[in-house]
Amino acid sequence: MRSRNPLLGAILLALVATAIGIVIVLALDWFPSQGSTAAKDIDTLYDVLLVVSVPIFVLVMTVALYSVYSFRVRPGDMRDGAPIHGNTRLEIIWVTIPFIIVSILAAYGWIVLDDIEAKKPNTLTVNVTGQQFAWSFEYPDEGKVKTNQLVLPKDRPVHFRVNTKDVLHDFWVPDFRLKTDAVPGLTTDIRVTPQRLGTYPVVCAELCGIGHSTMRQTVRVVPAAEFDSWLSEQQQSEEDGGTAAAGGDEAALGRQLFKDTGCEGCHTLADADATGTTGPELDDLAAQAAKYGKQEGLSPTEYVKTSIEDPNAFVVPGFPENVMPATYSDQLSPAEIDTLVEYLLGVSGEKSAR
Ligand code: CUA
Repeated sequence: MRSRNPLLGAILLALVATAIGIVIVLALDWFPSQGSTAAKDIDTLYDVLLVVSVPIFVLVMTVALYSVYSFRVRPGDMRDGAPIHGNTRLEIIWVTIPFIIVSILAAYGWIVLDDIEAKKPNTLTVNVTGQQFAWSFEYPDEGKVKTNQLVLPKDRPVHFRVNTKDVLHDFWVPDFRLKTDAVPGLTTDIRVTPQRLGTYPVVCAELCGIGHSTMRQTVRVVPAAEFDSWLSEQQQSEEDGGTAAAGGDEAALGRQLFKDTGCEGCHTLADADATGTTGPELDDLAAQAAKYGKQEGLSPTEYVKTSIEDPNAFVVPGFPENVMPATYSDQLSPAEIDTLVEYLLGVSGEKSAR
C-alpha cells in the first residue's frame, strides 16, 4: 500500500471532498424568504462565496492532513527535519492566486452593493429610531406619521435613516437582507425595495442591554392602496393628538405610549399584551405602588412617576439596579409621563379590584 503515490490518492480524495462540499453548501437553506429586490443578488453572491470557499478549505485541510500523515516521525527516528529556507516560486503562487480570487470577489461584491444602494425615484423615507428596548418609525414626508408598527408598501423603494436615542443597536430585517448599525450621534442609511406581501421580523442584532432579546418587532408589507389608507388613518390620528388611533380615550393613549416607549419589551402587563420579564411585572402595580409608596411617604402616583423618571430611586427587590434606562424624562413630555402613570395605575387597579 505504501509504495503507491500517496499524493495522487490525496488529490483524488480532495476532488471528491470538494464535490461533496459544494453539493452540501448549495443544498443547505441558508436564507429566509426573498422579501426584497436585493435578496436574489445577495443570495447569489453568498452562494458564489460558499462555492469558492469549499475548494480552498479542502485544499488547506488536504495539505495539512497529508503532511501530518506523510511527514510524521517514525519510531526511533531522532533526526532533525530538513533545513528549508523558503521557496520563492511557491510563495509567488500562494500570494498571487489568492490576490486574484479576492480581487474578483471584491469587485463582484462592490457591483452588487452599488446596485442595491442606487437611489431610485419615488422613494419613501422612513426614520428608524432604536432605544432600549424598542424600535420606533417615522414617515417624515407623509405628515410626520410616527408608529411602532413598521408598514411598507410593496414594490416601492424605501430609504431607511437609522438613529438611536441611547446605545448601539442594529436594525435588521433578515427577509430584506438588510442590516445596519444604529450609532449614537450618527445617521446610517440603507435602501430596500420590498417585493413580497407579508409580515416579517424586525430584529435588533447588537447586544444593547438586558432587554436586547426582546427588541423584536415586525414589518408589514402591504399593497400600495392599503398602505395609503393606513397612512391617512395615522395622519388623522396625529392631527387628533393621537387619541383617534388610540380609540379616543386616555387608557388607550397610555397603552399606546407604553408600547411606543418600549416598556413592553421588559415588563409584563396583560392590558398591553406585554410579557417582558426583565423588569417587575406591572399587573399588580396599583397595590404595590400603594404599599411601597407608603413606606417612602409618597402617593401611588408620585411613586410610579418617580420610578419612571428616576428608575434607581426605588428598585423592586430581586431586580438589579441600572437596568431600566434613566432617559424617559427626556424622551417623554411631562404630560405623556402623567398619561402613562395614570394608565398603569388604572389598568393594574382595575385588575386587582376584580
Ligand atoms: Cu437593541 Cu439589541
